[in-house]
Amino acid sequence: MKRYVILISGRGSNMQALIEAQLPGQCVAVISNRPEAAGLAWAAGRGVPTRVVDHRQYPSREAFDAALAEEIERLGGELVLLAGFMRILTEGFVRRFSGRLINIHPSLLPAFPGLRTHEAALATGVRVHGCTVHFVTPALDCGPIIIQAAVPVLAADTSESLAARVLAQEHIIYPQAARAVLEGRCRLADGRVVWEGDATPAHLALRVPAQ
Ligand code: GAR
Repeated sequence: MKRYVILISGRGSNMQALIEAQLPGQCVAVISNRPEAAGLAWAAGRGVPTRVVDHRQYPSREAFDAALAEEIERLGGELVLLAGFMRILTEGFVRRFSGRLINIHPSLLPAFPGLRTHEAALATGVRVHGCTVHFVTPALDCGPIIIQAAVPVLAADTSESLAARVLAQEHIIYPQAARAVLEGRCRLADGRVVWEGDATPAHLALRVPAQ
């Protein structure tokens, strides 16, 4: 069984979805860069080891990333799942974990990288919004896409209602993607996502929930 770590910065609802999915691997730790992250208590309550690598204790981004990488390697983490981890990672860190570093982002990338994605979706008037699970590459919120889920943007939507609709899909597709990678059915090769047997399973690659 592969050993994986989950990195969080706050609430940790995606972390909860991953742990509750009983993935075919061992969650060796939930690591937060913020000691006050609410998700830490939830993980500890489930008997999952927790660690804090507080970015404020390090003089530079490089020093923080080096400490984080060492902690992950000390734990024997083979796969790193970013679940609301709100730190920009250095190129060195991303390369060190290339093909083993996955992120969830609350938009249909490459649209709306960065923060406040739901506000951006409403401001631009897109009719379709969603979320993306992807392998991480050095550019922010970028990288080969594993699974996306699409949701409609409704006329009455606020950023809160749209966020909630997207989050429900995040909790479905992140465990699906993590499971596929842990089982070796999906991997990164030459900068592209490769599915076992060549073709991306249609039911996995794009999720469009019924209205
Ligand atoms: C989620 O919506 C996740 O997609 C987003 O932060 C939220 C964390 O919520 N991540 C990013 O914006 C990364 N660029 P959670 O802590 O409840 O999982």
